[in-house]
Amino acid sequence: MKTIHAPSIELRESRISPTAIAALAIYAKCGIPLAQEFLGFINSDKIDASTRNIATPQGLPTVDFFPMLEARYRSTDGAIKRLIEERGIETVLEFASGISPVGLALVRDYPIMFIETDISDEFLYKPELCRKVMQIGNIQSRGAQQFYKLNAVTMIGFTEVEKELQPGKPIILTNSGLVTYLSIEDQEKFASNIKRIMYSRPGSLWITADISLHCKDYFDTMSGISPAFEQQWNDMKAGLRAQLNIDLDETTYANEQQARAFYEQRGFKVTKMDKAELGFDLISESFLTLDLDKKRQLLDITEKTCTAWILELREGTGVIGSKPSLDGSNILRP
Ligand SMILES: C[S@@+](CC[C@H](N)C(=O)[O-])C[C@H]1O[C@@H](n2cnc3c(N)ncnc32)[C@H](O)[C@@H]1O
Repeated sequence: MKTIHAPSIELRESRISPTAIAALAIYAKCGIPLAQEFLGFINSDKIDASTRNIATPQGLPTVDFFPMLEARYRSTDGAIKRLIEERGIETVLEFASGISPVGLALVRDYPIMFIETDISDEFLYKPELCRKVMQIGNIQSRGAQQFYKLNAVTMIGFTEVEKELQPGKPIILTNSGLVTYLSIEDQEKFASNIKRIMYSRPGSLWITADISLHCKDYFDTMSGISPAFEQQWNDMKAGLRAQLNIDLDETTYANEQQARAFYEQRGFKVTKMDKAELGFDLISESFLTLDLDKKRQLLDITEKTCTAWILELREGTGVIGSKPSLDGSNILRP
């Protein structure tokens, strides 16, 4: 049964975060399950505008970022499914859920509890959106969804979320598209919040492709292959600097080794789940205008790089510092 802690309000596209809409629009183009259905409830002018924002000026192709985001989604989704099946984990906690369809798609197929959280006020509309998608698609959930407003860095809102988590039982924690918005200091805080949640639930796993997507050498390699990609990367950097005062040159890891070391030094054991390990293609369609040779290079490097990592607590890893600051005031309730 699906529980919804939110008012039933008409969904208005103007209330939804542009980056979350852009991600959803890209997922829909790439054939991610249920993305098109979610998108159907959101005004198309807004989608076009937001997709343009994240991608291109001057009519350059907008598509060279798509494979990266498709690989992020499919590898994370595939790794979550694998670990639910192999380890019998019953609860997934997602940070920065936005309007991704992943939660609904997973509870449709698995008898799990999927807890979606996000910082934005617009997230109040997510339960309504899921309800509508279920109605038009005649979807019967095998599991249940919960929705809470939660800041993944300060953990404001966590008191109520924690009530959903059974003490001592392992859970999967996941996030897609969050780390890009975090300074190094906030990435540290986020990792330490995750660690605290995992510490009291032995066997828990953190599944995310956000870290592998945050390495500068990947963007440099892509830029060498595609001028459009380089333009998009530079635009994204300029946009984040102007709008959020985030400098991606400062917050991006130089390469995968550095990213891995960052998390290993903080007590995590890191395993990579790439296309070979997962056993299926991470990119179904490319929409790329590159010539065949460059297209192959881009897809090959992207499928090897932009993939889910599984982070577990190394044995003996203690939790330093106090518990997350707890404040239940942000629960989504009618
Ligand atoms: C690019 S969207 C990604 C959404 C979704 N995970 C997906 O894959 O489509 C980024 C999301 O991060 C959320 N966000 C940004 N900072 C956050 C924070 N500190 N805590 C929780 N959510 C945050 C935004 O509200 C937005 O929904």
